[in-house]
Amino acid sequence: MNAAGAPLLKILGLKKYFRVRGKGFFSGERGVLKAVDGVDLSISRGETLGLVGESGCGKSTLGRTIVRLYEPTEGEIIFDGSPEPNRRGTQMIFQDPYASLNPRMTVGDIISEPLAIHGTGSASSRLERAHELLRQVGLNPDHAMRYPHEFSGGQRQRIGIARALSAGPEFIVCDEPISALDVSIQAQVVNVLEDLRESYGLTYLFIAHDLSMIRHISDRVGVMYLGRLVELAPAEELYRNPRHPYTQALLSSIPKIGRWKTGTKRIVLEGDVPSPMDPPSGCAFRTRCRYASPRCSEELPPLVEGAPDHHAACLLV
Ligand SMILES: Nc1ncnc2c1ncn2[C@@H]1O[C@H](COP(=O)(O)OP(=O)(O)O)[C@@H](O)[C@H]1O
Ligand code: SF4
Ligand SMILES: [Mg+2]
Repeated sequence: MNAAGAPLLKILGLKKYFRVRGKGFFSGERGVLKAVDGVDLSISRGETLGLVGESGCGKSTLGRTIVRLYEPTEGEIIFDGSPEPNRRGTQMIFQDPYASLNPRMTVGDIISEPLAIHGTGSASSRLERAHELLRQVGLNPDHAMRYPHEFSGGQRQRIGIARALSAGPEFIVCDEPISALDVSIQAQVVNVLEDLRESYGLTYLFIAHDLSMIRHISDRVGVMYLGRLVELAPAEELYRNPRHPYTQALLSSIPKIGRWKTGTKRIVLEGDVPSPMDPPSGCAFRTRCRYASPRCSEELPPLVEGAPDHHAACLLV
């Protein structure tokens, strides 16, 4: 689905740093936490780009910065050819559907709020639209009068999806949209997102922990480590032929698909992600990489296209 033509979203050298109180620093002293540290990425219209990586690698920060919930520290975000923030065209679906819904508003008001903010249509046409969206996410339109606490987790996430859709976005960041849900209903919510992608021609940045689901839903997959993309490839290619040692370790933890080469043993990813306040020099993965050499502490490996459409940031590949 990698359509030719201008990408819908293009980001260049994107950085998002946070000023935080430094761990172990004298009180009052502040440090810089590099949550996203130089990401280049293009996403085509209609494409679903999956984004994986351990907790704390900067996935949510990247998603939030793209939809301008955060101001970028540096770099460019070009959406539909323009560097201007596009609050209607880009929306976000959050991991915790309850925290993202105002408990004192009716579901109808929650869903139509983005339209009300932009002064779109009359109150009755907005409610009409809310009813239609409720139907599209598989809920009863009569539920528009109810409040978020009256719904189950899966239903709340459907409400969150309906709200994200109401402003008519082209691009949606789905930030672990099923991680907080019961396993039994996760697939249903993924199906809703896939159906909506088809009917509205949506483009997704899909962040998730579940590597099997990401493989299923994505056209391409990006792997993040400590604020940077370390690998980017079409989904099937990445799962069949992971080139970066970090991706290899991540995939080898999946029972069914981890042994991508016969005889390959499970690689145990030891230790935690280092602090983004004090990342290792050179290749940030070197403290956990079984192939690390002295050169890896000196050079920052660039993300290079070693095979067609397959990019990896490792000095060995
Ligand atoms: N608002 C914030 N202020 C300070 N630090 C933050 C903020 N949001 C995220 N971080 C830090 O940025 C890093 C990346 O976080 P995040 O983007 O949430 O990663 P992920 O979504 O991959 O788990 C983490 O070290 C996290 O603690
Ligand atoms: S650059 Fe070195 S440390 Fe980094 S992933 Fe490649 S081999 Fe490992
Ligand atoms: Mg996150």
